[in-house]
Amino acid sequence: MASSSTEWVHLRGGGVSLLLAPDRWGLPAVAHWGAALDGDADVQGLLTTGTPAVLNSSLDAPRSFSIAASRQHGWSGTAAVELQVGRASGGPLTLVETTAEPTSARFVLSDRERQAEITYEYRLDAAGVLHATAVIRNATAGQELTVSALRLLLPLPARATEVLDFTGRWSGERHPQRRRIGDGTWTRSSRRGRPGHDSAFLTLAGTPGFSFRSGEIWAAHIAWSGNQEQIVERLPEGAGVHSAVIGGGELLDLGEILLGPGEAYQSPEVLFAWGDRGIDGVTDRIHRSVRALPAHPSTPRPLVLNTWEAVYFEHDLERLTELAKRAADIGVERFVLDDGWFRGRRDDTAGLGDWSVDETVWPHGLRGLSDRVHELGMQFGLWFEPEMVNPDSDLARAHPEWLLGELPDLRWRHQFALDLSQPAVATYLLDRIDAVVTDCAVDFIKWDHNRDLHAARGAAGAPRVHEHTLAVYRLLDQLRARHPALEIESCASGGARADLGIMSRTHRVWVSDTNDPIERQLIQRWTQTLLPPELLGTHVGPMRAHTTQRSTALSFRLVTALFGHAGIEWDLTSCGPAELDGLARWARLYKELRPLLHSGRTVRADHVDAGALLHGVVSDDAAHAVFAWVRLHTSPAAHTARSALPGLDPDRHYLLRTRPETGPAARHQVADPGWFSRAERGIVLSGRVLTREGVPLPLLNPGQAMLLELIAAR
Ligand code: GLA
Repeated sequence: MASSSTEWVHLRGGGVSLLLAPDRWGLPAVAHWGAALDGDADVQGLLTTGTPAVLNSSLDAPRSFSIAASRQHGWSGTAAVELQVGRASGGPLTLVETTAEPTSARFVLSDRERQAEITYEYRLDAAGVLHATAVIRNATAGQELTVSALRLLLPLPARATEVLDFTGRWSGERHPQRRRIGDGTWTRSSRRGRPGHDSAFLTLAGTPGFSFRSGEIWAAHIAWSGNQEQIVERLPEGAGVHSAVIGGGELLDLGEILLGPGEAYQSPEVLFAWGDRGIDGVTDRIHRSVRALPAHPSTPRPLVLNTWEAVYFEHDLERLTELAKRAADIGVERFVLDDGWFRGRRDDTAGLGDWSVDETVWPHGLRGLSDRVHELGMQFGLWFEPEMVNPDSDLARAHPEWLLGELPDLRWRHQFALDLSQPAVATYLLDRIDAVVTDCAVDFIKWDHNRDLHAARGAAGAPRVHEHTLAVYRLLDQLRARHPALEIESCASGGARADLGIMSRTHRVWVSDTNDPIERQLIQRWTQTLLPPELLGTHVGPMRAHTTQRSTALSFRLVTALFGHAGIEWDLTSCGPAELDGLARWARLYKELRPLLHSGRTVRADHVDAGALLHGVVSDDAAHAVFAWVRLHTSPAAHTARSALPGLDPDRHYLLRTRPETGPAARHQVADPGWFSRAERGIVLSGRVLTREGVPLPLLNPGQAMLLELIAAR
């Protein structure tokens, strides 16, 4: 229920409220973003107390923090709007129009001096996630308007004292980093032309010590695949009656957005999620919101085999056909031919851009393999890297003017980017991909993006990342319009482009190039904070991981790959019978459990010892759950104390059992906890015992994992 008056706007949905009221200039200022307000008394209480003290050595009137906070209105922090007409920067803003619907609001603000119009839109979805965007329009009769920044910012209360975001590197995405919020600006910028392996990803500000299961959290994410910045900022004078600020937007280059009369710039959507049940609570809201996106897959996620780690560039019809046969025998449902199929692509130094099948390697084309894959009952997938070009390619030789202006010594993996903002480039790519998809009966594309964009400038030297990002979105939209059943994976040397801008147009993300389960457990754990498991490509690799050279047990690799859109990235022709049998059992288990894994709530236990993880997925009605009990490293603990299995209904009873299909996990103890002698058949326990007190679990050796299943008794 939303309510509004001429004085204030109250959006309420999914247990969350956003209350906006005019500041002394009449601009909408956020009076509250957080727990749902319980009617007019709460609203009035916050409004009555919404004016801060007048401070020493400060403005002569109380300060406020409006949605368009800027120095013109007394805000000394990072401005929400930065614009210029000629040399004149933005003037004061006035509110010219407000539209409030039950769960959405629109505010039109005008900069009368510069003749710019800024429209803010806020929508609270059924999951309680707030979607915010802003549009700036040049309303001058004949002048150019420069936009340097258009940020969506919301205030944080004083009890939000810590901030958690992410960094990372190739094959090591999503390393969390946490710090205390102090005075100053914590800005996380990406100037990589893609969010990057070190993307801030999701910024979570929360109460002291917030954990997976406890604490109040205010989180922000920029749904954008180009340059961007995420901000947490605190000034000594606060932000109106609030303490700090969170949000961000696109990071624009100097002169990147120049608007002619009547032209407009639209910010990316910024998602804001509040919750008072720890990180899992915020994750739950975001997952529900993501699951409502139009492109979100609704069919069972097919078990994948990707050929990359099996054959790399060594494409050979006979060998790949044998691989496909073995895959089908195991139960694979989608066979993906990775890099190496197109003209001149014998290694990574040449060929990008020439999107036709290489006749020297595939004299009869790819259709034969594709047909065989389909006959075997699998879908056929193919790798592309559309935005890129090798200088050693027919395309680069024919159209040097199509390159995105990277300097000669800024090659990266021997490649440059194409300037997709040129219509001819986008048309070429659409037509080539379309032709290959049609000719080779392609059901799925792995869409890669393997370099940062550095000197991303168009022909006249103008910055291009913004236009390029929009052109990629357009290309994806047009391709999907031509092939509505086609599924697409977002890959960028692993997970360097996993934002909700690209994920609203694609069907999964390649989480990381590492399949080492020790690394993967953590990368998936944190990627899942934003993206639900069905969007995460999680593959079983060979015993020795190609990224770390570490060898791990098959059972551990199987458990790890189960918690996502599962697949295999392994040369099955090199596997022994025990390995093939293990994979086949696991494939059946994946198909049995995927309805739960791909619709339930992600839960992650706190308070397990430092070397271990306990995480799972609980069905929405809490009737069914599956957990992974994982040991990454040894720790000082000699035993595993009772560990609570979070997210179950305390008022029900559950059958708790182990699932043996992933194989045995080696122990670091003499004997299991007593109840484990009955673990395969299962024991019945109350939800109260399971979810509050927990059960003792075996002390596993490092690099071991096992599965626990819970089924509610009727
Ligand atoms: C990138 C991807 C890999 C693989 C290779 C192929 O590195 O992340 O999964 O597709 O490209 O060249």
